[in-house]
Amino acid sequence: MENFALQPEHLPDCHALLADCVANLPDDAYSLAARLAWAGIWDEDCRVNWEARLAGAWSVGLRDGDQLLAFAWLTQAGELDMLYVAPWAQGRGLARQMIQQLEDAAAAAGVTALHAWASHAARPVLEAAGYVMLRPNRVVRDGIPLENWLMAKGGWQEPAAARSDT
Ligand SMILES: CC(C)(COP(=O)(O)OP(=O)(O)OC[C@H]1O[C@@H](n2cnc3c(N)ncnc32)[C@H](O)[C@@H]1OP(=O)(O)O)[C@@H](O)C(=O)NCCC(=O)NCCS
Repeated sequence: MENFALQPEHLPDCHALLADCVANLPDDAYSLAARLAWAGIWDEDCRVNWEARLAGAWSVGLRDGDQLLAFAWLTQAGELDMLYVAPWAQGRGLARQMIQQLEDAAAAAGVTALHAWASHAARPVLEAAGYVMLRPNRVVRDGIPLENWLMAKGGWQEPAAARSDT
């Protein structure tokens, strides 16, 4: 298994992996409509948005030959912005490994106050990595509400002005 830093040219494959992960989530956590809204489509707007988010972030991709197994990135602001492991590669500690690698890189640069907007699937994984749940959250994508959890580690606190139920 190869461990590499993500570049913009890897992002279409990352998006395809995200779509696969989200499609495989159970119905009870997110409806089909919610999962479709979450995954979205890989278009020019998405490319520009993802490239901006990746720029300056610590990132990791894991691949086996040509096959992407997992990817994640952590922004300079300490947000674990992406965390996806292919359905067939889950439960082997790959998320834990990527979180540790990204946290080590961030800590070396003095960034230790971390947060994430975690899905129902990611919450126990982040709790195992030492994050605590601050509050439930709801985002609206394409008019469809999606629940997640604001989680923090290392003393990160939510700016009061940023708090919102949507
Ligand atoms: C969430 C996700 C990234 C986890 O990836 P993974 O590689 O299967 O996770 P790991 O195997 O590294 O598990 C990490 C830790 O969490 C624990 N864990 C994983 N799933 C768990 C669950 N459902 N309940 C309790 N603990 C769980 C593991 O036991 C492990 O703990 P340990 O290190 O103490 O053994 C993966 O399931 C995924 O991509 N899900 C769909 C997309 C998604 O929701 N991404 C997050 C967006 S915010």
